[in-house]
Amino acid sequence: MPTAPLHFNPPVIGHRGACAYAPENTMASFVKAAQLKVKWVEFDVMPTSDGVPIIIHDDLLNRTTNGQGEVSRYSYSALQSLDAGKWFDYAFSGERIPSLMTVVQFLQEAKISANIEIKALPEHEESLILRVMQEMQPYLSKANEDFLFSSFSMNALHLLRQIAPTCQMGLLLHAWEPDWQDICHSLNCISVHVNDEIITEKTAQEIKSMGKSLLVYTVNDVKRAKELYAWGVDAVFSDAPDKVYIPATP
Ligand code: G3P
Ligand code: MG
Repeated sequence: MPTAPLHFNPPVIGHRGACAYAPENTMASFVKAAQLKVKWVEFDVMPTSDGVPIIIHDDLLNRTTNGQGEVSRYSYSALQSLDAGKWFDYAFSGERIPSLMTVVQFLQEAKISANIEIKALPEHEESLILRVMQEMQPYLSKANEDFLFSSFSMNALHLLRQIAPTCQMGLLLHAWEPDWQDICHSLNCISVHVNDEIITEKTAQEIKSMGKSLLVYTVNDVKRAKELYAWGVDAVFSDAPDKVYIPATP
């Protein structure tokens, strides 16, 4: 079971790549994160109608592509005809919705670790997790410590733990669950990922005293990042990782 602490140096995780500078969850965004020298990125995984794990945040195509409707109703090949960059800036025209495997291969070559956030409709969670773990197996067997899985869905976390007993897993909290400490222990989470709007110095100390890595999303302001680091936060998810990276003082 995973027990070793996670390492974050610099203490920042590129959110959806580096999504202040390039269209979120596209290869352009992950390339930008690599250029900014981050060592961790986060991205969201969802299934296509034919079961391919792809990287996209919303259930709907509307906001981040020139398509419309539910992502899960389209096949992988149909989704490849969509533009996932133009909405952000015309300079990114031609960006596609990447597959999980394309992104993971790039990140492994760039020596960047990944927080893979599972996002699926409840009825698709099990098939998505089975497929993700099947595709990830060659990578996990070589470098389990390079990958951290998380989800807002408690059902998805339970499935992840059943299907992949040794994977590194983080409890992702938009709001405090009444029994979050018990969930964290019973699922053997290595980390807790907390909404910046609910974290306090006291809860930060509690998480750290449980021996868990503490990650906070989404932080784009250096003053706030410094405060969180002073509370013991291990890393912040940021759209603009270079803005919250504070070099160590000699
Ligand atoms: O995993 C941290 C963060 O990405 C969770 O929120 O909505 O940006 O996926 P969201
Ligand atoms: Mg996310």
